[in-house]
Amino acid sequence: MQICILNGSPRKHGNTAELSKPFVEALTDGGAQVTLHPLAEMDIASCKGCYHCQDVPGEYGCFQQDDMHAVAASIISSDIVVLLTPIYTWFCTAELKAVLDRFFGLAKFYRSAEGNLLEGKRIAILATHGYDAAYAADPFVIGIQRMCEHYHMRYEGMFSVRDTDDIASFQTKQAIGGAREFARYLLREKV
Ligand SMILES: Cc1cc2nc3c(=O)[nH]c(=O)nc-3n(C[C@H](O)[C@H](O)[C@H](O)COP(=O)(O)O)c2cc1C
Repeated sequence: MQICILNGSPRKHGNTAELSKPFVEALTDGGAQVTLHPLAEMDIASCKGCYHCQDVPGEYGCFQQDDMHAVAASIISSDIVVLLTPIYTWFCTAELKAVLDRFFGLAKFYRSAEGNLLEGKRIAILATHGYDAAYAADPFVIGIQRMCEHYHMRYEGMFSVRDTDDIASFQTKQAIGGAREFARYLLREKV
């Protein structure tokens, strides 16, 4: 199984990176091939809303020549896309939001091109946040569920941990065990 992780945290050694360690470990232990994209270290512009991609069939098709093309290729070859992000202002970070907007070029619904390169892809969220999970992350979860409906992707759920004590919050038995269990859940074949 191929898994593409889109890491939206700007902090290389921050809370979200810490939570991702046992998660990635459990995925690789389970035989998955994992590609992790550190979005904050990549050159990915925002969507310009030009709709050029909607006239380019069979490929990503964005006119902007930046690192999103490598991310798009990774998404296309993956079974599961994981959105790894701290909650910033009730949503994902700007780095990840830019990528989500540019998913547009993978699904052709609006102009001459046809074909949805996101069809049937599974998507999951691994998140950290300061407030309790529902209050902090519900708006983001709802946004992603709506995106999945629109692009015909399968939403697989979220595992998240609250930042109550900086990095130590993500080193507890519960946080590590939960991240591992979520990884094992994703690896179970779904019919
Ligand atoms: C700019 C900014 C905005 C934030 N907004 C929220 C928020 O809306 N809700 C929340 O629960 N936590 C919020 N937080 C807290 C972070 O989500 C939390 O500390 C997270 O674990 C940070 O992860 P990181 O170390 O990977 O950046 C915010 C933090 C920052 C720096």
